[in-house]
Amino acid sequence: MPSQLLSPITLRDLTVRNRIWVPPMCQYSATGRDGVVTPWHLMHYGSFARGGAGAVIVEATAVVPEGRISPTDLGLWDDAQRDALRPVVELVHEQGAVAGIQLAHAGRKASTGAEWGTGRPGQSLPESEGGWTTLAPSAVPYEGLADPVALDEAGIDRVVDAFVAAAERAVEAGFDLLEIHGAHGYLLHEFLSPLSNRRTDSYGGDLAGRAKLMLRVVDAVRARIPEGMPLLARLSGTEWTDGGFDLEETTQVVTWLGEHGVDMVDVSSGGNVPATIPVGPGYQAPLAAHLSAHTDVPISAVGMIDEPFQAEHVLVTGQAEVVRVGRAFLRDPAWALHAVIALHGDAEIIPPQYRRAYRQQLRQ
Ligand code: FNR
Repeated sequence: MPSQLLSPITLRDLTVRNRIWVPPMCQYSATGRDGVVTPWHLMHYGSFARGGAGAVIVEATAVVPEGRISPTDLGLWDDAQRDALRPVVELVHEQGAVAGIQLAHAGRKASTGAEWGTGRPGQSLPESEGGWTTLAPSAVPYEGLADPVALDEAGIDRVVDAFVAAAERAVEAGFDLLEIHGAHGYLLHEFLSPLSNRRTDSYGGDLAGRAKLMLRVVDAVRARIPEGMPLLARLSGTEWTDGGFDLEETTQVVTWLGEHGVDMVDVSSGGNVPATIPVGPGYQAPLAAHLSAHTDVPISAVGMIDEPFQAEHVLVTGQAEVVRVGRAFLRDPAWALHAVIALHGDAEIIPPQYRRAYRQQLRQ
């Protein structure tokens, strides 16, 4: 039986060569602190495409300056940022993959020191070190971070407009698909969760209220991007704590997202409150399996799916339609080429420049 992992998938007008997708992973490498890509990004994203990935999704890219996790995040609030992304897209295309980008607003988890380079990793940056006031659904801080300011209605409208403007720039830059970041405790997840959303207006309260901003963003973006372009969303399927945005609520939100024109949902978890996460091989795949079983929306699975046979198993057992491989691709940017060899796929995916290097492996 041909490998499912290596088989193409079509979403709207886009066909992707296989189901090995690289998830967004922040590089904190916009070293000019202006949200603009640097040569690092070209090499980083190009290497995954060369290494056989079907889709390469560019890291969380802020739609407004105050939506950056750190000062060295990528942004897409101006045309210079858009223009600098074009070569990334071209490189990914040249290597046969499709290019996606994750549009994000970090909400109350913005304005922190990057994992490296800006000092104070994971801590709020004071203004004297380039930090800024963060925005959130309610004036409830993430544990240990600075107090955010609750968005008013005008502020919410500005967030929606910023997602739309960034989406339009992403289309202009040549991206094939867009992903709205609704996971990991960033702004849209903060609205979804009762632990961070204490609003009493129409953007809070029951699940319909808490999901209102996410759906507004999806509707507004969907209306302004080409009909044939897939729109994806990423959610945290559980917060691994009582009283949070849980799998049952996620299932409803995924259903709504599908009704509002989202073509695939990637299910991650956690990030909105400190919690003990049972990290291990495939630890989030059961969340994907639940959503695949209980919604009509195509689901992608992610989280320590590190081996080709493990990835194939997730698909063969119907847990997801696509698998995302993150850190394993950082360790081995040719991960998908190695999957092709392990699963006896079509050697055509190996760049001609490298085929000689794979002769022995292909004979096996
Ligand atoms: C991430 N992750 C992440 N997620 C996201 O939605 N947007 C992002 O920008 C980032 N940034 C990021 C940076 C780095 C260095 C890592 C390691 C992770 C989470 C990532 O997309 C993925 O969900 C996790 O890494 C789990 O998958 P793996 O790595 O176990 O395959």
